[in-house]
Amino acid sequence: MTRDGDIAWITIDNPPVNATSTAVRTGLADAVRKIDGARVAILRCAGKTFVAGGDMSEFDKPPVEPHLPDVINLIERSKTPILAAMHGTVLGGGFELAMACAWRIALPGTRFGLPEVNVGLVPGAGGSQRLPRLIGMDAAINVACRGQLLSAQELLELGGLDSVVEADLEIAARHFISQLPTRPIPVGNRKMPALDTDYWGHQKSGLEKASRGAMAPLENLKALQWAQLPLAEGMARERALHLELRNSAESKALRHVFFAERAASRPKALADASPRDITEITIVGGGLMGAGIAAACLFADYRVTMLEADPDAAAVGAKRVADLLDGALRRGKIDASERDQKQARFRSTTDYSLASTADLAIEAVFEDLAVKKSVFENLSAAMAPDAILATNTSYLDPQEIFAGIENPDRCLGLHFFSPAHIMRLLEIVRTPETSKSTLATAFSLARRLGKQGVMAGICDGFIGNRMLSAYRRQADYFLADGALPHQIDAAMRHFGMPMGPYELQDLTGLQIAWANRKRHAQSRDPRERYVPIADRICEMGRLGQRAGRGWYRYENDTRNPERDPEVEALIIDYSAEMGIKRREFSEAEIQERLMAVLFNEGALIVEEGIAEQASDVDIVQIHGYGFPRWRGGPMHFGAQLGMDIVASAMNSVKDQSENSWRLSKQLS
Ligand code: NAI
Repeated sequence: MTRDGDIAWITIDNPPVNATSTAVRTGLADAVRKIDGARVAILRCAGKTFVAGGDMSEFDKPPVEPHLPDVINLIERSKTPILAAMHGTVLGGGFELAMACAWRIALPGTRFGLPEVNVGLVPGAGGSQRLPRLIGMDAAINVACRGQLLSAQELLELGGLDSVVEADLEIAARHFISQLPTRPIPVGNRKMPALDTDYWGHQKSGLEKASRGAMAPLENLKALQWAQLPLAEGMARERALHLELRNSAESKALRHVFFAERAASRPKALADASPRDITEITIVGGGLMGAGIAAACLFADYRVTMLEADPDAAAVGAKRVADLLDGALRRGKIDASERDQKQARFRSTTDYSLASTADLAIEAVFEDLAVKKSVFENLSAAMAPDAILATNTSYLDPQEIFAGIENPDRCLGLHFFSPAHIMRLLEIVRTPETSKSTLATAFSLARRLGKQGVMAGICDGFIGNRMLSAYRRQADYFLADGALPHQIDAAMRHFGMPMGPYELQDLTGLQIAWANRKRHAQSRDPRERYVPIADRICEMGRLGQRAGRGWYRYENDTRNPERDPEVEALIIDYSAEMGIKRREFSEAEIQERLMAVLFNEGALIVEEGIAEQASDVDIVQIHGYGFPRWRGGPMHFGAQLGMDIVASAMNSVKDQSENSWRLSKQLS
């Protein structure tokens, strides 16, 4: 705290994000006690942001005094009124501090939120009590229950800010207090209008639908309801709930994911590697994936050249990219001038010489070794000898694809997920030759694309698709032994997946996995149980939603799967043909065994060094396959459940299909 005439300046300086650690809370409480006598105090933060939250590493320990709610109450009741002058991201405890101040001003790019819901918590220092008093209940629900961030302009329009000011913040703060308005009623003393049970019921059902089993959105709604009580009572209840939720399985899982994402993005093996600059990217193949990858690169402001096999395909690819940019414009993600700028940074061609200036090429042509090899021969002839070469292959071995290419240390896999401009996961696949600098460049590309990079080694399907095929294999064993696709899909949706394995196959198309099964038909262990139902479905031309039928039919609505008696008869006939007496499987059995299979495969992947750590497997499942974040990923989920329970489920899996599973060390 410093004095400047009748102004007291309180500055929080706790890099990197000014978290409300014990030292910060102590310092703040001292400062507020010392500002008595000043006409006005200004609370601001050093560095790149105002307080952006609590210190999550303190969440696993008992809370230490002074507690944040007490410090915040001191601020609200301080005789000397306090102005919050904000920049950066004002989150969690930071927003709670600001709401207790008499006035709030912020720079234009500042953003505000209560992201506790994202880590399975409710605010712990009055956020749920003051926010609805400040901006109204509807807006508060979006912020506290849905994790919405508000821009400075939005908060101003909702009445939560006194002014959006131009830089410099110090000058703006001095200007604001030079014409100080009369001190308003403290936010905590404002009365909330009563809302009826219909209102709460309606909000609750909306949140339930969106949260896929997560409890934190509903806990936040409950806390917001307490804002109708006197402040002290509401705050006491909110605090008790906050402390209780710190120990909940959901909050632990979400905090695990928070740290796991950071760990996956910064692999230990690359700690000393420096990334290279990328400005221009060549993408080979303008199909579903190539167009999506091109759009993702354009959204991140790279220059993109798309190479296609012939002029017609080049035109089709260009049209796909233009459609994706138009889609982003329609959804308000970019404006018309940004769309035009991005379009101007894109070209589509069949001429390899136009790839010569690119720093990186990403290949997304047909899943065919010979085609891919010839693409890389052409690229290495056309591009600089150190330009990075990447393949988006799903199942082929990148080492075979790159065999014979000069400077193999610049070659790697960049495995995007469909739709590539939306899905956040990017598997960064290293070959034994890939250099650290190439990998570090890939991680920095992932960050700029807004994607979650995860390092993977080479095996069939890398991390994600390898786990997916184990999961599907077990699902198919259930089909053969008594379940039907809709039962398995419902069980997994009820677990929290956005869709079940069969709905997902229909959505993404059955052909790539089918081709992969055919490729491996020769090398499959003959003792392994093989269920050919999926192959029969493919042979009937039922390749998924785009074909109008797959595991389900899509006659009346292309997005709405309908059970198909033809498929169900095929499944039942197969069981009869094999002499299998079909039996019912409970939803719990389906969930337990599918989770055990995912855990086992993930553990094998870590044992074999394909993934650096178990938490990387969790991140792949969450960002590539929609595994419920609030369950922490299959490895965290299994570890929380306990190895004896997972091992016993895996034993049932083995009994169901002898000779078909290899157990990881953890389960054997
Ligand atoms: P697609 O069939 O939609 O597109 C392939 C494109 O490559 C076509 O436009 C074709 O004209 C073009 N092409 C073929 N030979 C070429 C050549 N010599 N030079 C230039 N262009 C050529 O296939 P899709 O689905 O986009 O897949 C592409 C790659 O991405 C495959 O390796 C696939 O395994 C992989 N992948 C696919 C995913 C998916 O969900 N579809 C997910 C992740 C990876």
